Amino acid sequence: MNPGMPQKLSLPGVKNVIAVASGKGGVGKSTVAANLALALRMSGQSVGLMDADIYGPSVPIMFGLGMVDPQTTPFPLEKYGVKLMSMGFMVDPNQAVIWRGPKVAQAVQAFLGQIDWGDLDFLVIDLPPGTGDAQLTLSQSAPLSGAVIVTTPQDVSLIDARKGVRMFQEVKVPVLGVIENMSYFVGDDGKRYNLFRAGGGQKLASEIGVPLLGEMPIDPRIAECGDTGEPMVRKYPDSPAAQAYLALARRVIATSATPAAAPLPEVQW
Ligand SMILES: Nc1ncnc2c1ncn2[C@@H]1O[C@H](COP(=O)(O)OP(=O)(O)O)[C@@H](O)[C@H]1O
Ligand SMILES: [Mg+2]
Repeated sequence: MNPGMPQKLSLPGVKNVIAVASGKGGVGKSTVAANLALALRMSGQSVGLMDADIYGPSVPIMFGLGMVDPQTTPFPLEKYGVKLMSMGFMVDPNQAVIWRGPKVAQAVQAFLGQIDWGDLDFLVIDLPPGTGDAQLTLSQSAPLSGAVIVTTPQDVSLIDARKGVRMFQEVKVPVLGVIENMSYFVGDDGKRYNLFRAGGGQKLASEIGVPLLGEMPIDPRIAECGDTGEPMVRKYPDSPAAQAYLALARRVIATSATPAAAPLPEVQW
């Protein structure tokens, strides 16, 4: 195979493949991907979440799962009704995976091409941060319906986010919109407080002509949930953050080209 031209894989049973991307790490991309996947599920969609961050997988910890024996446990795994795949199910997260680019690309292609995702309304892909080779290969070989770009309100993060947008434009993957994470804090008084300079996500969205799909609040419980295996949207469904995720899921469903023909009934937890 010509490494410059990865083969485009097809996932016939999956209606929408959505990449969650960011220019740099630490903006909350994995948190957004996990909570978005669950919020889509809670909105009655059938959903998979693929962790394409081979070096720094987050899905196992966020969903309270560890390594499994692939001989006895078929992939994808499933938790909270979401199908899951991550390098962390196969390799001890404490053992650094020091693979070179082509092997990373192979792993990601195997996640897409050799795993039986079945019929899904949405496959959410948590991309590794940045705009390097791994990201480019994935954007070229995955049958992406679109990408959402996660950013934070600070300008320095926006510069990186713009690079991500350009990468998707180059490989002709539509950018569905921008999600601004850590946008504001809701105090005990119920008021919104901007901790960083406000409006960065909107600025990026306007600049590239896409909608601002959501502004996600800062909530210390998000970090707590990230470590205890039950994402925020499910653990604290009445919190402002969970409500913001459910609203985001509705927008993503509305924005997607082929909405589910017959949605599953809403899930009661
Ligand atoms: N809105 C938020 N409020 C509070 N903590 C957050 C929020 N979003 C992310 N975090 C925390 O920030 C850290 C980085 O998030 P993560 O999703 O791992 O980022 P990335 O995947 O972009 O590297 C994690 O500890 C996560 O729990
Ligand atoms: Mg991550």
